[in-house]
Amino acid sequence: MKLPRSLNFQDNAVLKKYHLMELYSGIGGMRYAIEAAGIHFEVVAAFDINPFVNKIYCHNFGFHHLSRNILSLTAAEVECLKVDIITLSPPCQPFTRVGLKRDIEDERTNSFLHVLNIISELQKKPLYLILENVQGFESSQTRNKLIETLEKGGYRYQEFLLSPKDFGIPNSRLRYYIIAKQQQLPFSFDCVQEVLFKMPKETYSWTAVCEKCCHQQYSASIPRCSVGHFLEENPEEYFSSFLISDDELLKHWTVFDMVNKSGTNSCCFTKAYRHYAQGTGSVLFSVKDSEVSDILSHVTAANVSENKLALLKKLQLRYFTPKEIANIMCFPKEFDFPEDVTIRQRYKALGNSLNVFVAACVIQLLFET
Ligand SMILES: C[S@@+](CC[C@H](N)C(=O)[O-])C[C@H]1O[C@@H](n2cnc3c(N)ncnc32)[C@H](O)[C@@H]1O
Repeated sequence: MKLPRSLNFQDNAVLKKYHLMELYSGIGGMRYAIEAAGIHFEVVAAFDINPFVNKIYCHNFGFHHLSRNILSLTAAEVECLKVDIITLSPPCQPFTRVGLKRDIEDERTNSFLHVLNIISELQKKPLYLILENVQGFESSQTRNKLIETLEKGGYRYQEFLLSPKDFGIPNSRLRYYIIAKQQQLPFSFDCVQEVLFKMPKETYSWTAVCEKCCHQQYSASIPRCSVGHFLEENPEEYFSSFLISDDELLKHWTVFDMVNKSGTNSCCFTKAYRHYAQGTGSVLFSVKDSEVSDILSHVTAANVSENKLALLKKLQLRYFTPKEIANIMCFPKEFDFPEDVTIRQRYKALGNSLNVFVAACVIQLLFET
């Protein structure tokens, strides 16, 4: 992916090869974002305990990876690796309603608290920190502990809540980001205490780097590119295993969020996509917008399920493929899955990951002076 050119990256920061430590590396969303932001780096460690996300990471980046529990990490090891940048995407369940919002009481937060202790202990602290999490983290006790660690450790920082749809990408995924750097390194903007809902300077637009948008004239009133730009171009048979079954159609048609290729938004794709129908991500229909409401009103009126089904089938509803979700999350074209990772595992891994373009923009802001 070639974001840096459009992001006015400052050359002085590109010269140094930073030592990067990826904590909770997953499928490498943060690594792609750092790459896209034009930072010159070398991964000195990347840790995640989940075997299938590690398999996807290794498939795309080669060996550079250790399957390891972050709880076993020590300050001495981090010191030894001369880490300049730490990226963190700790588990989000402790901060979500579904995960019961147990925050600091949830044992899944333990490894992150352990990382905070390590940062406090380090004699030579990393220059830059980047963390991503779900909405809800900003009001947690865990966040307060993070801020305390940053302030005591001599960092300046800025917090954000940002969604790809505000960056010209047709997808909602509101996420918390915090960028922090050592006091002696200035930010290019004035940091503020509150969480920002937009970039402090101009908002970068995906439409400027989307290969498909580049060839089209976009009016200012349509600042987002359409869902169609992220879809796989394959023969119809390829998508047959992604078609929504008759059973699912009849059971869930009222709760599906349906979009077509000309749509300019889609719901956040979660790790439960295709497992639960409601609120886990959009599905795709292949007829024109104008025909959908007509078909759906006939479905509502039909009282025999056979008639309902026949009407619903006209929509040709299907799930987004994992590759299409990766595209909409702005993973680079070459991002790929190993064959032995199941479709369910692919959806799960993507649902836990992040929007690479949004993260790249935030990271670029961190490195700008
Ligand atoms: C929100 S996901 C991070 C996703 C990542 N940003 C990406 O792009 O895929 C959190 C990750 O933390 C990992 N994890 C949770 N607890 C861990 C621990 N104690 N040690 C190492 N990894 C852990 C999970 O396996 C999961 O992949």
